[in-house]
Amino acid sequence: MHLYFSIDNIMNNFTFWSPTKFVFGRDTESRTGSLVKEFGGTKALIVYGGGSVVKSGLLDRVRKSLDEAGVEWEELGGICPNPTDDRVYEGIGLVRNTGIDFLLAVGGGSVIDTAKGIACGVLYDGDFWDFYCGKKVVEKAMPVGVVLTIPAAGSEGSGNSVITKKDGLIKLSLRTESALRPRFSVMNPELTFTLPPYQTACGIVDMMAHIFERYFSNTEGCETTDRVAEGLLTAIMNEAHKVFADPRDYEARANIMWSSTLAHNGLCGTGREEDWASHFMEHELSAIYGVAHGAGLAVVNPAWMSYVSRTNPAKVAQFAVRVMGVIPEYRPEREIAEEGIKRLKEFYRGIGMPVALGELGIENPDIARLVEKLHEHKGNPIGGYVKLTPADTEEIYKLML
Ligand code: NZQ
Ligand code: ZN
Repeated sequence: MHLYFSIDNIMNNFTFWSPTKFVFGRDTESRTGSLVKEFGGTKALIVYGGGSVVKSGLLDRVRKSLDEAGVEWEELGGICPNPTDDRVYEGIGLVRNTGIDFLLAVGGGSVIDTAKGIACGVLYDGDFWDFYCGKKVVEKAMPVGVVLTIPAAGSEGSGNSVITKKDGLIKLSLRTESALRPRFSVMNPELTFTLPPYQTACGIVDMMAHIFERYFSNTEGCETTDRVAEGLLTAIMNEAHKVFADPRDYEARANIMWSSTLAHNGLCGTGREEDWASHFMEHELSAIYGVAHGAGLAVVNPAWMSYVSRTNPAKVAQFAVRVMGVIPEYRPEREIAEEGIKRLKEFYRGIGMPVALGELGIENPDIARLVEKLHEHKGNPIGGYVKLTPADTEEIYKLML
């Protein structure tokens, strides 16, 4: 505990804006059509992924619900994980030519983020990429609605979108306070029963990482926000064990699904400075090596925690004690932190996640390129809990070997 801190380090003023209407539970996808109508849609573009929603029958149920509500629709399918700019351009062209007034994402983060890219790009005369590379601020966007199929990215409740520019493999995140928050998100935990264990695990790591980015902060006095974050982390890990024991455990799937939203709708960051260095480091990995975002984070998060604990172990030690159940026994904070990180890695391994680059399939990472691209895209230094220069991020990538 710090006895002295600067005035900047106490709980900050904040605005918490989470206006999405969440419609949660069994069979809720049957309400999609009436929800689109409620938010002013008369013709929707259904955006979906590589086929899981076709196979499960969800797409048919969504089409039926739109038909019943008298909402017309067109489709843009085949969005791939780590979605790319070409599909956003395609969607913008489709919307402009067909009188579509609502974007309906049926899928996970990749599908939702593509819909969000279209939503802001369509109302802008220039290149939509201007928003992602920070040249322009999004002021208006078309309405987006979501039928969520994988709890992970939290895009169903966030104002963010992440797109990869194919030319140069540049993966950038766009953050808006309100413009890109979905009008509604339909969340039926039963839709996640079909998730392969690997995708379930990736999602669990990602939602935990969204909490870490906000929890590891030097801002003092945010006990409520801390306890919300710690409670969510504890719930996610407990429920994860149940989901892996029985993938059709409705309550466990439901708790995981709701946690993914609360992890990333801004609640866990209220009143404090956030970090995000681990996400930026991971985005370079998934841009260059095409790995799943959650799996990449399972490698990045422990390495980052270990590195920052060398100079600033306090909050990592708090996480170790309050979330990972480490007994402090009057040991130095760094030692407590390391034990917590060890337990976190064991948890990740236990759910089938990699904890080193080799396990992620990246045998000979080009660390110089990763570091160069990272700081080119995100500046120098990055992060909040510990400010990281290229020398630091190089060390962190090396810790992942
Ligand atoms: O494409 P289909 O066939 O649908 O298969 C998907 C995909 O292969 C599959 N899947 C989804 N729901 C399923 C299912 N398979 C069986 N049953 C189901 N119910 O899962 C695979 C992964 O889908 P994807 O949408 O890529 O996953 P996720 O939600 O993890 O999204 C990852 C993307 O979101 C970005 C990531 O960087 C990545 O590009 N993020 C977006 C954020 C945001 N907008 O706020 C924040 C995050 O930090 C993250 O960066
Ligand atoms: Zn993430």
